[in-house]
Amino acid sequence: MQQRTDVVGPGRVAVVTGAASGIGFGLSERFACEGMRVVMADIEQPALAEAAEVLTGRGAEVLPVPTDVARPEQLDSLRDRALDAFGAVHVLCNNAGVAGLGRPVWEMTPREWEWVLGVNLWGVINGIRSFLPVMRAQEAAHIVNTASVAGLVAGVLGPYSVTKHGVVALSEALYFQLLQRDVNVGVSVLCPGWVKTRIVDSDRNRPADLEPPEPDAAMALARELGRQMVESGIEPAQVAGHVVEAIRSGRFYVLTHGEMNDAIQRRAEQVIAGGPPSPALV
Ligand code: NAI
Repeated sequence: MQQRTDVVGPGRVAVVTGAASGIGFGLSERFACEGMRVVMADIEQPALAEAAEVLTGRGAEVLPVPTDVARPEQLDSLRDRALDAFGAVHVLCNNAGVAGLGRPVWEMTPREWEWVLGVNLWGVINGIRSFLPVMRAQEAAHIVNTASVAGLVAGVLGPYSVTKHGVVALSEALYFQLLQRDVNVGVSVLCPGWVKTRIVDSDRNRPADLEPPEPDAAMALARELGRQMVESGIEPAQVAGHVVEAIRSGRFYVLTHGEMNDAIQRRAEQVIAGGPPSPALV
């Protein structure tokens, strides 16, 4: 357990990426309810404006900032906008993500890989790089990186799994490096199972120069299955509740679906036994 901090509460400042929808909106909503000022970042501008309006309408103090997390300079300007508006950043949620479900890994184009890795993995790297120097200079702060339970089980989801395993490893590295340097910034890695969001429709944010792949039968089936699982998932507000509890108690791994713990354990056993890996998400 990390050192307990009081970074969630009235007057504190949260920055959330992917804040226009799903888990990011749920986090923004919860932080606003806690009396925090919330910087909401997202690439989807109309949805971001609408989401910010909803919270403003409830009396929250929010700042929407259009941001592409794959672009390092846009994270720098997000940090600057947050500091100009609110003077500090106590909680950073590197949450934006895309599903990027596509063709088999050997058929994906480099540009396709770049999109998914750019948002899901570089987005988190960029967030840490831009914000950590500011956060470590404060008396207390906390970073929450959104991975997935897909980052803890066998990599059945191609580039998505690659990025989520990456976010877990990155968060662990960050935790150790901060500890070694006695920096008072807490770290948590959020690893939810299925959550009712728009993740299956991630293609809405596909870069303009990136044609969607021609779906084959396996891809269509995977998408349909994904849609059904997401629709049966828990509400983003429940995930936000787990996150706030984790920040307050200094929990590092934030698991939201107890019924998936067996799959995590099975994976570790399969690794030790030499495999083969088995699919674990359905
Ligand atoms: P969502 O699609 O509802 O929300 C994702 C948000 O990220 C959207 O508002 C989207 O516009 C934004 N976004 C996409 N590309 C961006 C970019 N380049 N820069 C900034 N913002 C960008 O999906 P959801 O589920 O809320 O996703 C949030 C995070 O939760 C993702 O990292 C996802 O991988 C993770 N997650 C989701 C699960 C689920 O079942 N929904 C399960 C486990 C993890």
